[in-house]
Amino acid sequence: MHIHRLEKIWLGFGCVMLAVFLGIIGVSAFASGNQPPSDATLIDPTQVDQTKPFDQPGLKKIDDNKYEAVMVSQAFQFTPQDMVIKKGATVNFLVTSKDVVHGFEIVKTNVNMMVVPGHINSIEYTFKKAGDYLIVCNEYCGTAHHMMSTKIKVVD
Ligand code: CUA
Repeated sequence: MHIHRLEKIWLGFGCVMLAVFLGIIGVSAFASGNQPPSDATLIDPTQVDQTKPFDQPGLKKIDDNKYEAVMVSQAFQFTPQDMVIKKGATVNFLVTSKDVVHGFEIVKTNVNMMVVPGHINSIEYTFKKAGDYLIVCNEYCGTAHHMMSTKIKVVD
């Protein structure tokens, strides 16, 4: 069977573009450290208060400019409320839920994740600008969903 030269060129072009697009999707999906949930981060959602590190939620300083924020979500609040950190600090958020799926969005940043019960959901962010950052739940979780928020104050 004879294939016309232009047809070959277009077929080749199509194959190259397919490889490029799949490559971009494959790389970008994991580029910012995103990982699908794994068994290594499973916990019992009915035992959150007894499970480390969630038995002591709060902000922990782990290095000069590095914090770990251990947080619990439940209808309709985040624990802890109102954290204060220094400008330029990197915070690793470890968040779990006691009941349903909640959201975790830091307004005006690209931090946005689902908080799935039974999992330790984590995300890291470096706060380069001082100010008040609002953390909101952006997954509908019940009648007072719109009230569910907390704050991080970043000071100079
Ligand atoms: Cu929690 Cu909406």
